[in-house]
Amino acid sequence: MEMGMSDAYDYAIRSGRYTNGSEIIGKYDNVRVLWEDEITRMVLKTHIQRLIRGRDKIRILDMGCGYGDGYELLRGIREENGDNCKYLITDEEIEYKGFDINESFIKEASGRYGGHKNTSFEVADFSKGFSFKDDESYDIYFTSYGTLSHNEDEANARLLADIAEHSSNNGCKSTIVCDWLGRYSYEWQSLWADKGDPNSGEEEDWIDYRISYFGDRNVKSFPLRLMGRDEVEEVVKRANEISSRRIRIKGFFDRSILVGRHMETGEYNRYCVPIRRVVNSLFERNVVTDLEQLLIDYHKKEGTGFNRLNRFFEEFCMRWNGVIRYTHELLSPDSRVVSPRSKAEEEIEEIVDSEMWGENSNPRANLIEPQLGYLLRELEIDLQEGIGAAHGFIAILNVS
Ligand SMILES: C[S@@+](CC[C@H](N)C(=O)[O-])C[C@H]1O[C@@H](n2cnc3c(N)ncnc32)[C@H](O)[C@@H]1O
Repeated sequence: MEMGMSDAYDYAIRSGRYTNGSEIIGKYDNVRVLWEDEITRMVLKTHIQRLIRGRDKIRILDMGCGYGDGYELLRGIREENGDNCKYLITDEEIEYKGFDINESFIKEASGRYGGHKNTSFEVADFSKGFSFKDDESYDIYFTSYGTLSHNEDEANARLLADIAEHSSNNGCKSTIVCDWLGRYSYEWQSLWADKGDPNSGEEEDWIDYRISYFGDRNVKSFPLRLMGRDEVEEVVKRANEISSRRIRIKGFFDRSILVGRHMETGEYNRYCVPIRRVVNSLFERNVVTDLEQLLIDYHKKEGTGFNRLNRFFEEFCMRWNGVIRYTHELLSPDSRVVSPRSKAEEEIEEIVDSEMWGENSNPRANLIEPQLGYLLRELEIDLQEGIGAAHGFIAILNVS
């Protein structure tokens, strides 16, 4: 195992914030639980709906499972039908195996989920592909939160090819959920480079990543691969050269455009402001959040090669700031509010004006701010373009 990586994760575990932490700073903060997990579920929903048709078991392999969080994530995918809401995969249907290279994670995962039937965990390594047993196959090959960024591209191509060779072949295609770090996250804008401009410097394919967002800045770094669409397409192409089965890309998704973990630190872009903890605060009971701290002043990356990215982020920030400013105006007793300019602004106006809140103590903190949080989450979902312009970059593949 790469020493920097194992040290860094072990250190994070010892800090306590990786295992527990609070809703404001910690692995399971509000953004992770209410935004990132939920957005990942939303992205996967239609693929899982297709998979479960006519099946009585869904076999899942969670690669780089850490504490086994993929179990709850996948089990939590819901289908809403009018007033009814049901989980797509029931406890009886799920068969889940998680593996990770780090023994400490596997111990904790076994403690957390080992009591559930049909779960198993083991220590294993995916950096040279994966040795499946002859009869071992799954319906969902799952990774999450940047896990594939630990591997070189060739190792990921090998892994995908091994998966393709062993994926279920009983009339329904298996789904592979790939999760990398996005190449063009604003959090590491200093690492973007323009391939067409000789003065722009070398493009950085890897980030010297530090889990420094839990408070301690003196943590060790380890390399993580940054990926855009072209690179993912290359990896899949290479896997298809190795494997006899065909892997196809079904979609891309950018997760956490303005709320990635390193917005907090500004370590790779000094213009980042710690927005994540402010978004977390929106969901806290009885805590009134200073909305102005949610505003972002986007700093352009110089160079014509970045026109598209700059436009994307400027437009995004304009919409983001617009809803926040509008909410702030609505909540300020002495300000005169102009008409809403967007759907999100209309919605927040309805929420603020609702008479339902009358009986509630502290409606601003307990009702209006969480609703603002969900509206901002909608922006993250609606405006993403699946180009690697966020902290997390998801690619959904299937094997035919
Ligand atoms: C960003 S964490 C994600 C953990 C977990 N999936 C989650 O949702 O929190 C990446 C995980 O990949 C694991 N990992 C890194 N390299 C690995 C390898 N070569 N084989 C197996 N697991 C690996 C790490 O130990 C770590 O648990």
